[in-house]
Amino acid sequence: MTKQELCRRARDMLSRSYSPYSHFPVGAAIECADGSVYTGCNIENAAYGPSICAERVAVFKAVSEGKRDFVRIAVAGATKAFCAPCGVCRQVLQEFAPELEVILVNCDGETLELTQKDLLPYSFGSENLSAE
Ligand code: THU
Repeated sequence: MTKQELCRRARDMLSRSYSPYSHFPVGAAIECADGSVYTGCNIENAAYGPSICAERVAVFKAVSEGKRDFVRIAVAGATKAFCAPCGVCRQVLQEFAPELEVILVNCDGETLELTQKDLLPYSFGSENLSAE
């Protein structure tokens, strides 16, 4: 899949966003090593706390279908400013994909290419639990 196609999949998810409280739609598309793609959108809740970000919906859909080997994620916002993954999503991405490539795509289709390492340096992971 090309970068443009992955970004298109993420942008297409903006219309599925359920964000009546923030009015801030986000779409995501995560690409697995086998080439499959799982998409997500943010889903909010009147109680606020149960809301979930687009990235985690995409990751959890994939993991629940048996996919854990991720290579790239595209995150689409509806604003000119790029929408970078929140701290919680960065930690979830770290669990499965410390080498992940991260593409942010804005409302004009412009992109910013980052890595998970850029987003979460000095991260905490399972290796810390067994470290001396
Ligand atoms: N949101 C995401 O879906 N992904 C991010 O990376 C940042 C924030 C959502 C959560 C909430 O529904 C809305 O954007 C405003 O914070």
